[in-house]
Amino acid sequence: MFRNITNLDYLAEIQSRFKRFDTAKVVAVAQQKGGVGKTTIALNLALVASDPEIGNLKTLVIDQDSSRNLTTRLIDKSEALKYASVLDCYTGDDTKTIVPIKISGNLDLIPAHSDHSSIKYSDAFDVPYRLKQAIEKIKTNYDLIVIDNPGDLDKLVQASLVASDYVLPPLEISDYGVDGITELFNKIRGVQTTANFSLVNLGLLPNEVDINSNDHQEYFEKLKKDVPELLFKKGEVFIHKAVKIGEAANKRVPIWEFTSESHAKKSAKNIIDVFTEVLLSIGE
Ligand SMILES: Nc1ncnc2c1ncn2[C@@H]1O[C@H](COP(=O)(O)OP(=O)(O)OP(=O)(O)O)[C@@H](O)[C@H]1O
Ligand SMILES: [Mg+2]
Repeated sequence: MFRNITNLDYLAEIQSRFKRFDTAKVVAVAQQKGGVGKTTIALNLALVASDPEIGNLKTLVIDQDSSRNLTTRLIDKSEALKYASVLDCYTGDDTKTIVPIKISGNLDLIPAHSDHSSIKYSDAFDVPYRLKQAIEKIKTNYDLIVIDNPGDLDKLVQASLVASDYVLPPLEISDYGVDGITELFNKIRGVQTTANFSLVNLGLLPNEVDINSNDHQEYFEKLKKDVPELLFKKGEVFIHKAVKIGEAANKRVPIWEFTSESHAKKSAKNIIDVFTEVLLSIGE
């Protein structure tokens, strides 16, 4: 097992900060682009937060994507089907109380359903508020709730923005820069000016940053110079590109417990550092 928490003050700060909140803080991971790291970010934020030796926070993770990538990184598909899925809160006349699945001591999951196309949304006007209502019923059981979303800006993503205190959008670094994010930021602003005034956009979290590629570094430096205000911590905090991140997720183990190889250690330290920063940005 590898952990390299060098700054224990941070951990004490996370603990005391979250103890001050009387109910869970809710973070939505959203981005209309597919394959940019939403599930990776939601999963690792939840794992860092819930690890008894790192965040030690009571954490709930909610999978809203019918591809069930997050669900299957925590539990077998067939096992998940035995439980209520997140879709249950969008159907019927009233918001149901959903009982989450216990994954580990500090970590619970509300799984996705595989067939979102068959869902008959409630006719009621409150569909965009249903997730918020469902979360309200169980919120006091947790310190942190993380929502993973599909790669679009549809109903479920909108409901997650209504239900959240924070949104953390991943950013794929490319020569297109931040061209693709206008729609997402407009949607966030729309929710902030109507249904959820207190929603905070933490800023784009760069993912899969290739620290060995000059081109990649050039794009990234240009972004940091041109639009620092759009980036989480002005781009100073980012996730490295590392195949071990995917391998650990597929094996259903946190990356810091995956292997003792030196490059995995570096990725583990990066992941712990990044998500410690995210936790410290909450309630700042
Ligand atoms: N930092 C990283 N380094 C290496 N591989 C990564 C990294 N982040 C994500 N990946 C890999 O890239 C792929 C896409 O990531 P992920 O599933 O998190 O994206 P997503 O935005 O949730 O995609 P989708 O829109 O399909 O839900 C996965 O195979 C994942 O393991
Ligand atoms: Mg995903």
